[in-house]
Amino acid sequence: MYSKIIGTGSYLPEKVYTNHDLEKIVDTSDEWIRARTGITQRHIADESQVASDLALHASKNAMEAAGVGSKDIDLIIVATTTPDMVFPSTACILQQKLGVDNCPAFDVQAVCSGFVYALATADMFVTSGKCRNAIVVGAEIYSKIIDWNDRSTCVLFGDGAGAVVLSQSEQPGILSSHLHANGNYSNVLSVPGNIGGGKVQGTPYISMEGNTVFKFAVKVLEEVVHEAVAENDLQTTDIDWLIPHQANIRIIKSTAKKLGIPMDKVVVAVDKHGNTSAASIPLALDMAVRDGRIHSDQLVLLEGVGGGFTWGAVLLRW
Ligand code: UT7
Repeated sequence: MYSKIIGTGSYLPEKVYTNHDLEKIVDTSDEWIRARTGITQRHIADESQVASDLALHASKNAMEAAGVGSKDIDLIIVATTTPDMVFPSTACILQQKLGVDNCPAFDVQAVCSGFVYALATADMFVTSGKCRNAIVVGAEIYSKIIDWNDRSTCVLFGDGAGAVVLSQSEQPGILSSHLHANGNYSNVLSVPGNIGGGKVQGTPYISMEGNTVFKFAVKVLEEVVHEAVAENDLQTTDIDWLIPHQANIRIIKSTAKKLGIPMDKVVVAVDKHGNTSAASIPLALDMAVRDGRIHSDQLVLLEGVGGGFTWGAVLLRW
């Protein structure tokens, strides 16, 4: 038995902040942001929106594309670093909003690799026969954990959600998944805060050594793609679509170059979305499915890296 993605969906909040909007908030420029990151704009959630709201839109969208209803869903996994609350999990809140009864529902916290981790986890449930139709979501509201006075981080991130329905299939879908983590880097990219005694303890905003993250990302993203294709006796040239985590166009281009994959086989959304963390891969995937780039039988590789550090890849036959 295989697992296969049978529908994709996404949601981006209506409000858009362009680079020029950010020029009014911090000492930055459209030129710097474009040149260093490739980002031109990002979507920002309303004050009242929480991650499960974004996840709800994306999930409904994916379920409609898949032709499944709430009664068909028997597993919900939400990858998020910006949950609605400390608990219950955003997945449980989403379950209630979707009207799905009595199925396992839990969050995965692997920061920007979250969707890859969640999809790999759902694959194990589906291929073992434990569930038939899983909703796997990446949903983030990074605007809530950004220090809007810190120009080195506030220009990078955006909000959004992407979702897939992963179902049992007799035809190959997910071929293999590859997950890694190295906690020695936990201080390099973090939100070093928590809640204790009724107060925020530490700092509730993103702290990042950008250069260290950049170098690490290019290295491990290349390694994990080689690992995925080697396990399947394939070559990087066999990949029809590379869908990397969308953090920085320079990371994406460097990785593609090292792998010998031309940029016309790489799905890029960072220009319009910014870095949406766990949502970035399913958002880019949905875009490329809906605009007709990705179609039946193609080899698609999803890969991500993020805080932890965590990194991973999922190779699949569409
Ligand atoms: O999703 C995974 C998590 N994140 C990432 O993958 C991000 C990985 N890192 C990066 O994408 C890049 O390191 C950044 C885009 C964050 C930074 O680019 P960089 O080329 O590494 O720039 P830098 O940090 O070396 O900064 C260069 C200069 C500095 O000025 P000085 O010291 O050279 O005078 C910064 O102060 O750019 C300055 N700077 C800015 N200038 C204008 C930093 N942020 C800004 C800004 N606008 N927003």
